[in-house]
Amino acid sequence: MSDGSSFYITTPIFYVNDVPHIGHAYTEVAADVLARWHRQAGDDTWFLTGTDEHGQKILRTATANGVTPKEWADRLVETAWQPLLATIDISNDDFIRTTDKRHEVNVQLFLQRLFDAGYIYTGDYEGSYCVGCEEYKQPGDLVDGTGQYEGQQVCAIHSKPVELLQERNYFFRMSDFTQPLLDLYEKNPLFIQPESVRNEIVAFVGRGLTDLSISRQSFDWGIKVPWDDSHVVYVWFDALLNYITAAGYGADDAQFERLWPATHIVGKDIARFHAVIWPAMLMAAGLEVPKQVFGHGWLLVGGEKMSKSKLTGIAPNQITDTFGSDAFRYYFMSAINFGQDGSFSWEDLSARYQSELANGFGNLASRVVAMVLRYFDGAIPDAATLAPADETVLALERRVTSEADEAIGRLAIHEALASIWQLVDGLNGYITEQEPWALAKNPEQRERLQAVLSTAVHGVGTLAVLLSPVIPEATTKLWQALGGVGEITAVPVTRAFEWQSAGRVEPLEPLFPRVETIDGAA
Ligand code: MSP
Repeated sequence: MSDGSSFYITTPIFYVNDVPHIGHAYTEVAADVLARWHRQAGDDTWFLTGTDEHGQKILRTATANGVTPKEWADRLVETAWQPLLATIDISNDDFIRTTDKRHEVNVQLFLQRLFDAGYIYTGDYEGSYCVGCEEYKQPGDLVDGTGQYEGQQVCAIHSKPVELLQERNYFFRMSDFTQPLLDLYEKNPLFIQPESVRNEIVAFVGRGLTDLSISRQSFDWGIKVPWDDSHVVYVWFDALLNYITAAGYGADDAQFERLWPATHIVGKDIARFHAVIWPAMLMAAGLEVPKQVFGHGWLLVGGEKMSKSKLTGIAPNQITDTFGSDAFRYYFMSAINFGQDGSFSWEDLSARYQSELANGFGNLASRVVAMVLRYFDGAIPDAATLAPADETVLALERRVTSEADEAIGRLAIHEALASIWQLVDGLNGYITEQEPWALAKNPEQRERLQAVLSTAVHGVGTLAVLLSPVIPEATTKLWQALGGVGEITAVPVTRAFEWQSAGRVEPLEPLFPRVETIDGAA
């Protein structure tokens, strides 16, 4: 897939008011799979994630817990957000915090440049603000409250009342960018994906943009406006800039040149910030807009977006403690079409773990390794001649490799996995048909047995390479058992079928062992 340019991929930076749940982990894994795939395809890859630490929401949480916002942020980053990355095997190249000096000074630099270019003016803001969203709301964004908020207008996302703001603020002339943004969406139809998110945003911008209030005066947990330190920068304006401050904007021109623009993976709830405000900010600063904004769907629990504030949050380690990080990664990437909502259930997770990972892939690997040990004392046989069935497997390896790579290029992770799974199923079918255990009983069939096991080992090794961006732990163990030459991640994923073995297999423990029943689910 390599086209010479770099592949810079980002996740949203997460609010540190609370600990992560599986919705956050879902975004991380998706971005990680894409990053690992591109890295292994030989692309100059950079994967950024991090935390969003300013604003009223964090300030209030910290105050409620009797600590300063910085102490709170440090605590959450150290005890929850950084550990999340290890829990689900994230291979990020950088982790940015909006309280990093490198971020703060360059947010100020960016803002000053916009101010000097005439894109910022002073005005009075009067309207509603949702602290949960950290967003100014239009009347159309509000709904009638229920229960304790009966008779009030509430935020449609948080179901909580909004706050009336009346402040002297600095404004960004976002309305100047209505037409340039519409032109961008038209010229580059893939700029916002998927189609459903794109349509919604095009319609929104088509109704005309208003200017954006980008500072706050009533509290001070934020980055100071460089020419007026009685204001702090609006938290979204601050947060969006992480994508360039982490890439060297204002500090390392060569690095910035190399990395920017990025592919942004975000939840569809915040696609609008990324596909409207963010490119408008960049255009105003004379910088390139992002390569792409992909708004993925929500994890639903009981039909609703899973969230901590609605008490439906599930901690990632509740899953990984039982099933392991590979199963977490595989499950969410294969069971949900990337771009659409998906319902999480323990039953579905357990069922897929058993049928797809344990029985489908894990068993295949164990059987093939065990047969080479049993029939050839561990020495991987060579095939003297290949039968048509063997050739079919080799052709399938090539076909699924290119199909998966093409799907990853479209960010269709679930399609890539579906292609790779054709090889899992194809190899299982091949072994059932060829019956190597029967061939082994007949000394005259020795050559045929060699060809079958040589083909099967080859296919399993190709699978290991193709799956290594998704299930890195299991594939590394399998790689060792197959005597794979070099690091598995050094085999170009786009040429997975060219992997090589040193010639001998080693015993392999079950890759996906049986799990103990949890709540009757497994
Ligand atoms: N801090 C902002 C983002 C700033 S980016 C410049 C923010 N943070 S957040 O902590 O609320 O995380 C939002 C992201 O978490 C969503 O965009 C999405 O990627 C992920 N998810 C949160 N809940 C989710 C689900 N229930 N399902 C899927 N993803 C979810 O917004």
